[in-house]
Amino acid sequence: MTIHHPGTDNSETEQLRDRIAEVLTRARARTLALTENVDEAELVVQHSPLMSPLVWDLAHIGNQEELWLVRDVGGREPVRADIDELYDAFKHARANRPGLPLLDPTQARGYVGTVREKVWDVLDRSALRGNKLVDGGFAFGMIAQHEQQHDETMLATHQLRIGPAVLSAPSAPTVATPVGGEVIVPAGEFTMGTSTEPWALDNELPAHPVHVPAFAIDAAPVTNEQYLAFVTDGGYDRAELWSERGWAHRQQAGLVAPQFWERDPAGHWSRRAFGVPTALRPHQPVLHVCWFEAEAFANWAGKRLPTEAEWEKAARFDPASGQSRRYPWGNAEPDSSTANLGQRHLEPADVGAYPAGASPAGVHQLIGDVWEWTASGFDPYPGFRAFPYAEYSDVFFGGDYRVLRGGSFGTDPVACRSTFRNWDHPIRRQIFSGFRLARDIEQSENE
Ligand code: AVJ
Ligand code: FE
Repeated sequence: MTIHHPGTDNSETEQLRDRIAEVLTRARARTLALTENVDEAELVVQHSPLMSPLVWDLAHIGNQEELWLVRDVGGREPVRADIDELYDAFKHARANRPGLPLLDPTQARGYVGTVREKVWDVLDRSALRGNKLVDGGFAFGMIAQHEQQHDETMLATHQLRIGPAVLSAPSAPTVATPVGGEVIVPAGEFTMGTSTEPWALDNELPAHPVHVPAFAIDAAPVTNEQYLAFVTDGGYDRAELWSERGWAHRQQAGLVAPQFWERDPAGHWSRRAFGVPTALRPHQPVLHVCWFEAEAFANWAGKRLPTEAEWEKAARFDPASGQSRRYPWGNAEPDSSTANLGQRHLEPADVGAYPAGASPAGVHQLIGDVWEWTASGFDPYPGFRAFPYAEYSDVFFGGDYRVLRGGSFGTDPVACRSTFRNWDHPIRRQIFSGFRLARDIEQSENE
């Protein structure tokens, strides 16, 4: 890429520019792949009332990129000021989006391409420093993460869509011997959140000390085999295992198993994965469960979900240095040896498949595979400030949400780190959600 601002450039800025170009390019390749091989009619319909039509996500990705990078960072004229309202997520509920006069698929592809061309020029001319929005390339990183978040949402739409599969990928790694058991984390303070990660989003800030009492956390997420034991033990029929709200939801929604599980007349369970009937892999983390199902399973198992602070301490705290790190394995970027991220596979990997990604204490697969429900609601950290827009996090704080951590096989590494916070309603399970268990420990166990 050509650089046009002599005097401000140095190799560090060039490296940052290259990294931005790389993450934006990767996101766009994925966006286009998720909207290819799906005919025009399928791009404009709603596959579930929970989801937007794919063509809405596509143009919304371009519109956010236009708002922040073309207009705000670049100071350029609008490309399509007339469509801002259509693609404002707060103006139209998902259920109403198919009825809007949206750009058609050809127009939407043209629009995102036009915006991206302008963004290359904005990137080329930006010093990537000088104000909070561009320092360290923040706005570009935010937009790459935004596109990847919508790509994961579009992947969930593909999972919901009826009809022959259009996506494929190699199977996720298997293991002969699954990882199990639990790891004890002694009582003590750790640093939660970050003030230094350049592309961290506002809800991950600021870094702050949290004292966490001693707890035990499972070395791996709950697997299909473990979850099936709960199902066959009558877990969905025993009200005493569920909270009052959870049971009311189980009754009203008729829950009998994770979403997309199917039972044959002989009583054997399988699951439908992106249009393909798939045998349950026993050692694979369970997928597509809501928070209430996770809560009932935990009660059945005599444990509980970890709090968000417990989860993050397990994922970041290095007992040797007393410091919090970016990932369980250290500060290196995730790769195919440490985590199942980035839609390289269309399913979680067996528990124990990423020993190189474990924490020093031996907690596996905190990053990637399945989003993990925590016990915690979505609240701001002390000292939180909305930046750059309140509609990312601030308007959701204190609502009826539970925090999920760690990312899934469908999360890109750019949108995943041990401080990253996701949230959803406790009844949602079309997302790539699973969970792991924790428990309080007796002081005598903490020695
Ligand atoms: C953080 C995943 C809950 O998809 O609703 C996308 C991310 N915010 N566009 C969502 C988001 C604005 C958000 N989650
Ligand atoms: Fe969005």
